Amino acid sequence: MTQNKENAASAALEEVRDGMVLGIGTGSTTAFFLERLAERARDENLELCGVPTSIQSAHLATQLGIRLVALNEVDVVDLAVDGCDEFDANLDLIKGRGGAMVREKVVDYAAKRLVILADGPKRVKQLGEQVPVPIEVLPFAWAAVAREIDELGGQWDLREGTAKDGPVVTDNGNLILDTRFGLIDDPEALERRLAIIPGVIGSGLFTGHVDIVYCGTNDGVDVITR
Ligand code: 5RP
Repeated sequence: MTQNKENAASAALEEVRDGMVLGIGTGSTTAFFLERLAERARDENLELCGVPTSIQSAHLATQLGIRLVALNEVDVVDLAVDGCDEFDANLDLIKGRGGAMVREKVVDYAAKRLVILADGPKRVKQLGEQVPVPIEVLPFAWAAVAREIDELGGQWDLREGTAKDGPVVTDNGNLILDTRFGLIDDPEALERRLAIIPGVIGSGLFTGHVDIVYCGTNDGVDVITR
């Protein structure tokens, strides 16, 4: 599976042009992309800078010598490159296994072009087949949000740390509810519905924004556009 992620990351390099401001997603596939990007920038002397979506992607980009810039300091993000946990035929997504979905959504939705890196098992007929929809919530409000999820007929778990006792705290200082609604018939409606619950910062449903998915295979890549 690692090779498939690497193939997706390598193929997406063709999207990058000199002078671009890049949105830098989070996760292992994006990490492969960043490594290839740094090599290409060195070889071709490209002037690039990146808006990171997490502490993880900021650290990695810094290690690789990719110049970072804050979202508030740029007028435009030319191209965002990010990973996903599920994608469907409409190129709608579930993201947030790594807990970075809020900053990812801000940067991805702000970008002029959004490129998603994936691999075969992430391609689903209907979102909700395999992974929960993570929702970042204010610590103050998590139980109230959870009650709203109950009302909507969903199930939820407060995400627990693995190398820490107690809940996962996001880069923004919030908590995560991993929610399940079964197969999601209308991802856009659910994204909007979740967004209006008081105390919700944002969900891992990403609808209507992806331009292209590079889905890595054993020996290459499937390129899927709208
Ligand atoms: C982090 C994300 C990641 O992009 C997503 O989980 C994919 O990760 P990976 O490339 O490691 O499979 O949404 O919040």
